[in-house]
Amino acid sequence: MPTLTIALSKGRLLDETLPLLARIGIVPVEDPRASRKLILATSRPDIALVILRATDVPTYVQYGAADVGVAGKDVLLEHGNEGLYQPLDLGIGRCRLVVATRRDYDWTRSVQRGARIRVATKYVRTAREHFAAKGMHVDLIRLYGSMELAPLAGLADAIVDLVSTGNTLQANDLVVVEDVMPITARLIVNPASLKLERDVVKPLIDALAAANGAAASAHDPGANAAGVRA
Ligand code: PRP
Repeated sequence: MPTLTIALSKGRLLDETLPLLARIGIVPVEDPRASRKLILATSRPDIALVILRATDVPTYVQYGAADVGVAGKDVLLEHGNEGLYQPLDLGIGRCRLVVATRRDYDWTRSVQRGARIRVATKYVRTAREHFAAKGMHVDLIRLYGSMELAPLAGLADAIVDLVSTGNTLQANDLVVVEDVMPITARLIVNPASLKLERDVVKPLIDALAAANGAAASAHDPGANAAGVRA
């Protein structure tokens, strides 16, 4: 019976998380990308993995349904970080959150003349904070995927979305007009698990920190001394 459950995000981040876990000796007994199983045993009898939609990872860890998780900063900012200890920037899942428009849209002019700009995103909270900090009023439209379609279909003037290789923007003739922030994946830990399962959780954090030379979130200006973001 595993004593510790680690929640992982499906998709591209999983491809970078599995090798990192393998480096510290945690290997799922079946390939999660091939298996339909939602709970996977690992080479460590005391550790199981659950594979979730990225946005559900912080929720599972917050409520203690998973003890530990790996989630992007984008997801954590939208979630709000309450009830989560964030000890490590894992340095994986590296990408940028940006504002992008159609190539033929004059973003600078629209901003200068105070036009009411419509922005489609699934990062509504982060986008709201970004534009508010710039003193801009924008109408935010919440979407759940394929953001790049919104400017092409006339739903929005701009999008706030993640860019990794830039291939998706390029394929849809969109261009970056503003950087919002760099994104990486973080280790998140349920605070009660850290206390109750310290014998397993603490060595896990230390091993991950050593494995990738990750900087502790104490170096993150948004974190307080306990490593918990406000
Ligand atoms: C993300 C993001 C972009 C794409 C960017 O979507 O929303 O669509 O990746 O990557 P690129 O710059 O390498 O082309 P993802 O594929 O993760 O799927 P999602 O729409 O479900 O978030």
